[in-house]
Amino acid sequence: MGTGIIGIGRYVPETVYTNEYFEQRLDTSDEWIRTRTGIEERRFASDEENTSDLAIKATEKALKNANITMNDIGLIVVATATPDQVFPTVACQIGEHFGVKCAAMDISAACSGFIYGLVTASQYIENNTYEHVLVVGVEKLSKITNFEDRNTAILFGDGACAAVLSKVSDGRGILSFDLGSDGSGGEFLFLNDEQFIDMKGREVFKFAVRQMGDSAVQVLEKAGLQKEDCDFLVPHQANIRIIEAARERLGLPSEKVSITVNKYGNTSAASIGLSLVEELEQGKIKDDDILVLVGFGGGLTWGSIALKWGK
Ligand code: UT7
Repeated sequence: MGTGIIGIGRYVPETVYTNEYFEQRLDTSDEWIRTRTGIEERRFASDEENTSDLAIKATEKALKNANITMNDIGLIVVATATPDQVFPTVACQIGEHFGVKCAAMDISAACSGFIYGLVTASQYIENNTYEHVLVVGVEKLSKITNFEDRNTAILFGDGACAAVLSKVSDGRGILSFDLGSDGSGGEFLFLNDEQFIDMKGREVFKFAVRQMGDSAVQVLEKAGLQKEDCDFLVPHQANIRIIEAARERLGLPSEKVSITVNKYGNTSAASIGLSLVEELEQGKIKDDDILVLVGFGGGLTWGSIALKWGK
C-alpha cells in the first residue's frame, strides 16, 4: 500500500481582475504582463473573505470528492504564508468550522508549501499514525501585495486547494519526493517591513528555472523512472516562461504540462493543487498516470513529488 490522494477540491474567489485593471492604475500594459508572465487574469478575495474562508470551501469539496467526513480526518496540515492570524492557525480554524478536535498545524514553506504539506502528511500515514490527513494549500496574497508596485502587483492571486491523503493500492500513490532549501536566497523574496511581498524577480526567475528542472529530474530518478515516464507535469504557476523551461528540461510536449497561471496568476501554496484539480476536471489525468508535482518559492525552498495517480 502506498500513500495517495483520494479526494481533492479547490476554491477561487468570484471576482476576476484582468490585466486592464492594472493598466488603469500602474505604468504597465496587458501586452507586457501577458508576454513576460503569461498571466491574463487573477482572482482577489473580498474584504469579507479571509484565508480560512477560502480553505474551508476547498476542504468541503475535497471531503466530498474523497467520500469521507471531517470526523475521519486525523490531522489537518495547512500550507500558507497568509494565515488570518499567526495563531490560531488556519488548520485550527478549519477544525473549529467542522466541529472536530483532531491534530492541526500550519506549515510555512511559501510557494513550495503544498508539496511540503503533502510530504509531511504522507509520513503520518506511512507510519500508521493517521488513516486520513487533510492537506490544504491556501493564500490570500492580496493582503500582502503592494498594489502600487508594478514589479509584484500584477503577479499574484488568491485561491485554495485541499487534498485528502490515505493509503492507496495497486502501486499507486507517492513514489518519491525531493525537498530542499537555500536560505542564502532569502533576500530575493520576502515579506518587507511594510508587510508587503518584496522580490528581486530576475534572481528568483534564474533560481526557479534551474531548480524546477533539477528537482523534477531528481524525483523521477529517485522513483527509478526516466523523464519519458512522466505522463503529466503539474508545476508551480508563477510564470509561463519558468514552466516552459521545466517542460523543455523534461522533454515533454506542451499538452502534458499544466498551465493555469493565465487564469489565476501566482497563488503560491494553492497553485499546484489548483492546477491538479483543473486538469482532472478536464480529463487530462487518468488513473495510473505518472505525475510530477514541482514547486519553488520564498526561502528559498523547492519540492517535488512523483506520484502514480489513482485511489
Ligand atoms: O512564486 C515565486 C515567486 N515569484 C516568481 O516566481 C517570479 C519570478 N520572476 C519572474 O517571473 C520575472 O522575473 C518577472 C515577471 C517578475 C519580471 O520579468 P523579467 O523578464 O525578469 O523582467 P525584469 O525584472 O528584468 O524587468 C524588465 C523591465 C524592467 O525595466 P528596465 O529596468 O529594463 O527599464 C522593469 O522595470 O520590465 C520592467 N517591468 C515592467 N514593465 C511593465 C517590471 N514590471 C513591469 C510591469 N509592467 N508590470
